Amino acid sequence: MITKTAISNFQKLETPLFYYDMDLLRETLSLFKKLLDKYGIVGHYALKANANDRILKAVLDHGIGAECATGNEVSLAVASGFAPENVVFAGVAKTDKEIVTALKADIACFNCESIQEIQVIDELAGSLGKRARIAIRVNPNVDAHTHKYITTGLKENKFGISPWAFDEVLKVIKASKNIDFTGLHFHVGSQITDMSVFKELCIKVNVIENWFEEKGVNVKSIDLGGGLGVDYDDPDKHPVPTFEEYLKVIHDNLKVKPGQIVRVEPGRAVVAQCGYLITRATYVKNGMEKKFVILDAGMNNLIRPALYDAHHKVENITSDGKKSRYDVVGAVCESSDTFAANALVNETRRGDIFAIHSAGAYGQVMNMRYNQRDLAKAYYSDDFNK
Ligand code: LLP
Repeated sequence: MITKTAISNFQKLETPLFYYDMDLLRETLSLFKKLLDKYGIVGHYALKANANDRILKAVLDHGIGAECATGNEVSLAVASGFAPENVVFAGVAKTDKEIVTALKADIACFNCESIQEIQVIDELAGSLGKRARIAIRVNPNVDAHTHKYITTGLKENKFGISPWAFDEVLKVIKASKNIDFTGLHFHVGSQITDMSVFKELCIKVNVIENWFEEKGVNVKSIDLGGGLGVDYDDPDKHPVPTFEEYLKVIHDNLKVKPGQIVRVEPGRAVVAQCGYLITRATYVKNGMEKKFVILDAGMNNLIRPALYDAHHKVENITSDGKKSRYDVVGAVCESSDTFAANALVNETRRGDIFAIHSAGAYGQVMNMRYNQRDLAKAYYSDDFNK
């Protein structure tokens, strides 16, 4: 929520900026943790969605672990206070340097995406005199029904190990001296709003798990990845995602053996709704056919609309003029830098402040300096409301 105090603070600050409603983040985390405990599932927050120190601290305070995509994320998670046994590491391209970082940190699990990677981890662990716990990331060929750029579990995607390679995986694991096989990992995509995708995933996981068990391999952990979507169209109506529905689908469909660890790794669902990109209208102009609001934020601050055709709610928070149609566009000289085409927003004047909603996930982390533009700074509600 954006309060009047927050707006009066924005009026004094340089824009664009990212603003985080920390009460909403804590509410989201508390509910998530409560439901994880109810269903006996272990949560790992995907740092890639937002790795700001205050966000990580809140995640940590709620007893949730970390999911990392790079060696640098592993280092950051550990430096931020996540216990290594609560850190997992996936990534299709782990370099030797990153593997060594994670081995030295003694993380809970490497989620391995190729047979070659297993062999490299084994070698590097041996050279350091360490043992590595690994799971294999399986490509289950499940369609996440989301944007193709954030679909990761189809057979044409680069992620994970295909079931046809399982025999060879077992041979390699048996031949490896420095590896403990712990279980299976999956992640089929992001911004998934159709819960039947998770049901289909669980059903496939049960079959895959059976295959391993029949070969006498103990599957101690099953990690279902992240992917739970949020409501970008009406974030005020659904500020907290459907964790209950999501975890219940897993609980009802995944066969879990006594003592087995089940993990999930949401990123977006935890942080998307608590973050806003706050920006000023630099100019308002009438084009040949349309009216344009030209913001001081651009695709360099929030790349999601330009990259994935993503829709974020765009709102003029300082005008109460009557609603009118505008193309609300960014400042970068690319036509894809459009936040909302033909959007209905309050009559806008130069200097009005806009909130672009649901920008907490994959917003600030993907902020870049294209055109040598400044990086947008972060502000937190805890500091504003004092
Ligand atoms: N686990 C793994 C192995 C992942 O690759 C990802 C995200 C997650 C967990 C967290 O997924 P989430 O719960 O956030 O959906 N930049 C894109 C999203 C890329 C997601 C990449 N992997 C976007 O802005 O939509």
